[in-house]
Amino acid sequence: MCGIVGCIGHEALVRFLIEGLEKLEYRGYDSSGIAFHNGEEVKIYKAQGKLINLKNLLNGCLSENSNLKAGIGHIRWATHGVPNETNAHPHISFENKVAIVHNGIIENYKELKKELIEKGYKFSSQTDTEVIAHLIEDSLKNTDSYSAAMRHALKKLQGAYALGVIFKENPETLFAARKSAPLIIGVGENSNFIASDVPAILEYTKKVIYLDDNEIAQIQGSSYKIMDLEGNILEKQVEIIPWEPVAISKMGYKHFMMKEIHEQPDVIRQTLFDKLRCFSEPLHLPEVKLTHDTLEKLDRIQIIACGTSLHAAMVGKYLIEEFIGIPVDIEASSEYIYKRTVISKNSLIIGVSQSGETADTLTAIRQAKSKGSHVLVITNRPDSTMAREADSLLPVNAGFEVSVAATKSYTAQLMAFYLFAIYLAEIKNSLPQEEIEEYKKELLQLPQKVEMILSNKEEINECAIKFHNTRNFIYIARGINYPVALEGALKLKEISYINATGYPAGELKHGPIAMLDDTIPVLSVLVPGKVYEKVLSNSEESKARNASMIAVTSADDENLESIFDYIIKIPKTHEIFSPILTTIPLQLLAYYIAEYLGKDIDQPRNLAKSVTVE
Ligand code: AGP
Repeated sequence: MCGIVGCIGHEALVRFLIEGLEKLEYRGYDSSGIAFHNGEEVKIYKAQGKLINLKNLLNGCLSENSNLKAGIGHIRWATHGVPNETNAHPHISFENKVAIVHNGIIENYKELKKELIEKGYKFSSQTDTEVIAHLIEDSLKNTDSYSAAMRHALKKLQGAYALGVIFKENPETLFAARKSAPLIIGVGENSNFIASDVPAILEYTKKVIYLDDNEIAQIQGSSYKIMDLEGNILEKQVEIIPWEPVAISKMGYKHFMMKEIHEQPDVIRQTLFDKLRCFSEPLHLPEVKLTHDTLEKLDRIQIIACGTSLHAAMVGKYLIEEFIGIPVDIEASSEYIYKRTVISKNSLIIGVSQSGETADTLTAIRQAKSKGSHVLVITNRPDSTMAREADSLLPVNAGFEVSVAATKSYTAQLMAFYLFAIYLAEIKNSLPQEEIEEYKKELLQLPQKVEMILSNKEEINECAIKFHNTRNFIYIARGINYPVALEGALKLKEISYINATGYPAGELKHGPIAMLDDTIPVLSVLVPGKVYEKVLSNSEESKARNASMIAVTSADDENLESIFDYIIKIPKTHEIFSPILTTIPLQLLAYYIAEYLGKDIDQPRNLAKSVTVE
């Protein structure tokens, strides 16, 4: 949610700011802006809408200019105030002494604004951020020290912030600060950087420092100091980022989403690598720090997550209950945090998050941890705040996911749950060894089966041609594929803005069936197994209401043709693993429909990939 960048000491400063924002566009894209010190004054450029508008405004400014000093940039996902040029960041203080960019929400901004107005400060935007600029300027009236002014102002703020700050009268210094919103410092040669996330700085340096909450960085071209809010200097570790810049390119695909869909076979292979060494040997999950004794006693699991990660968690619940027979509760993190946290002695909390920065999930796992729970985090970002705060970590190795709609990270989360459920079953002896070996063999078959789906997309494309103008879509499934129906519907909603809803197939007759007629397509996910016949009956009920019917299935069943107008075939697998395969056609269907509708697939309206506000 909002991306910030900053730089000092680099001769291509404006280029860094713009290219850095480009890499952070997944965090928000309703307006953008930069500010830099040209040696005499702070210049600010802002534009409403996509980053391209700011780029056009800056045409001519992008060439190298070694006279430029510190600079900051921002790409916005609006929380307070409409996305227009006035509300775009950077914001400048009343006497033009302080320019700032901010990610987060200042919860007490109204009280602070009132106090500042009483002191004579005038506000020009509707944002919560503007109070920070005025507050720092106000604090500067009582001290010559810029860092003291920063610390004094920050102590008054309640809420979340990642900040980049430059001062008119101190052009050689860039300040950064963090509380409950991610921020890193990139350490370069004679130049230093700040950013909300690694992709922004990867082409300039691989050395990073992860700021922690309540820390301030005072950064110059070839030095930096990090301190706490009392001014005590802190020793921070410089870490090396293991990724290459190429990880963040489209590699010839039109959209990141399509590239990421096609990366899924390799993501599955990567997830299994080194964990599944031999069918007869137990799985190797060294990242799980719970002792075997604790795992044996485990009698309850709570999983917390949001959005697509929540759908992966629902599959995880099904697997763990099926394999181990202990109760698993799943909850949207945003609901979990406003309820009494009930934790028993032998329970485990699992947080699932692609980004590892989602504010709701982060707050939820902190809450559970404060009650004494062991927190295991499943995340795609081992460098994220959640990963750093977790007691155990199950990294999912999907690589950078740029498209706002999650695809490969979801598949990788599912794989993490398969591994964890089998791992627990081995420790708790809850499944026969032969069954476990069968499952392990099937896991290894999955990448080729996903490849088969990806190499035969014609049927899916035909469905997209037929249905891209529909305004409503229904997805049904049962059992372990019910979350797949929810995820398929979410994908379609996110990138095509079509009203798509997933239902447990058996629930249709309890209400939603009233909507059905020939204008609403119903997509059934049905694979041979426990609930196949039931989903088939529910599909017949929909067909009887004239709905257009689509099946995603691995069944060789002649009856299907009499019910379904379109049959999307997937390879056969054990029902328990089918979500890995049934998900792929739904991702592709959503993609093609959005493409036919001409939507902005990688950056759908109103969304942001990393939701760092509650
Ligand atoms: C997925 O397509 C969505 N963009 C969204 O639902 C996402 O899954 C959710 O915001 C949670 O994000 P996280 O996995 O990074 O915590």
